[in-house]
Amino acid sequence: MQNPEKQKGKWCFMKVLIVGSGGREHAIALSVAKSPKVDKIYCAPGNAGIGGVAECVPIGPMEFGKIVSFAKEKEIGLTIVGMDDPLVGGLVDELEAAGLRAFGPRKNAAILEGSKAFSKDLMKKYHIPTAEYENFDDAGAAEAYLEKAQFPVVLKADGLALGKGVLICQNLEEAKEGVKSIMLDKKFGSAGSRMVIEEFMTGREVSVLSFVDGKTIKTMTSAQDHKRAMDGDMGLNTGGMGTFSPSPFYTEEIDEFCMKNIYQPTVDAMAAEGREFKGVIFFGLMLTEKGPKVLEYNARFGDPEAQVVLPRMKNDIIEVIEACIDGRLDEIDLQFEDNAAVCVVLASKGYPVKYEKGYAIQGLENFEGKEGYYCFHAGTKRTEDGIVTNGGRVLGITAKGKGLKEARENAYRATQWVTFENKYMRNDIGKAIEEV
Ligand code: AMP
Ligand code: GLY
Repeated sequence: MQNPEKQKGKWCFMKVLIVGSGGREHAIALSVAKSPKVDKIYCAPGNAGIGGVAECVPIGPMEFGKIVSFAKEKEIGLTIVGMDDPLVGGLVDELEAAGLRAFGPRKNAAILEGSKAFSKDLMKKYHIPTAEYENFDDAGAAEAYLEKAQFPVVLKADGLALGKGVLICQNLEEAKEGVKSIMLDKKFGSAGSRMVIEEFMTGREVSVLSFVDGKTIKTMTSAQDHKRAMDGDMGLNTGGMGTFSPSPFYTEEIDEFCMKNIYQPTVDAMAAEGREFKGVIFFGLMLTEKGPKVLEYNARFGDPEAQVVLPRMKNDIIEVIEACIDGRLDEIDLQFEDNAAVCVVLASKGYPVKYEKGYAIQGLENFEGKEGYYCFHAGTKRTEDGIVTNGGRVLGITAKGKGLKEARENAYRATQWVTFENKYMRNDIGKAIEEV
């Protein structure tokens, strides 16, 4: 795509590579495409929608050697790593070792997401509010602990498990079964060699994403995800079925509390541990009766949080990212539009368990030229016969509005513009705002 700023004769020079293939990476790619500093975007491996703004290259996110060679050959000025696996695996370290600029935490900092046991110990050591917990690397010891635990209790596989390594158990029997499936049957693979058992908390969940340069942290506007597959928060946990932004429950008072007690202390703790964090920290918070507490950290943009947060960001994302890499984020005035956005995920019926792929998608052209509406591709593929479904989460339909109610109406209207066989969505994304 020709950068419109370039047509206006502005100086453009940078080539950017984005690593990932989901709706989040599509949202990042659209933000990058708006920057006057960029004249070419590549995405490895990308998807059919990302192909509209970037050149997709058939390199997998864990093929580090190929990514580094490609970035060198094409003289990539900046590589943005969107996904958790390559960050936790050390892709940023490899790019830097080859003399390339990359955005995202190094391996020793991405552990903030890569190990729940690490992040819990960090929070305990630095007095960052979170649920009470114990770590275990032995199933017998975990079971003995459960004999005396209060229920419900939450079991978490230590490592990355596609957001599915969390079990909420109502009684001892369920919890013992959970320990067996995580640690002995290895339901989540090697992610379950260690596990965390923690206190069950109640309250409203909020996602707060932030840019971090190692010492300074600037938070983006808040969002709320809907993780369960079905309306009314029923069904299995998914990667996320929809989001809205901002969260009306995340007040200025809560924001101030979190900056003082959670956000800055986390950045300072990582620096004190010799694990300087540069990149995006995603704080998964629960607003409990006793105040906000951390549910989890992620070391990257959320998916589908990025699809409601980035379209509302006023800044040039490249300027913000460069400030993070160079340690001068304090110079950036991060600004968001005074409006709202809602994203509804269109999935393939059966997700997250069993679903078919390869259905033709109709109506994508309906989004062309529609200001304030976005059709982010997640699991899609271009074939000779057109664009087809290629995953459980297929598209993320985002719309903006003056407020959440209008954004919600707009997003649901736009979900009707595209069709594919077995199209499935939740009908209550953002409905919680009616309680406000
Ligand atoms: P996580 O991947 O750690 O964010 O966990 C996934 C989901 O499980 C969260 O979004 C919460 O809905 C739920 N969850 C995780 N930890 C707890 C907890 N300690 N108490 C209650 N719910 C939890
Ligand atoms: N939406 C939750 C995540 O990105 O992990």
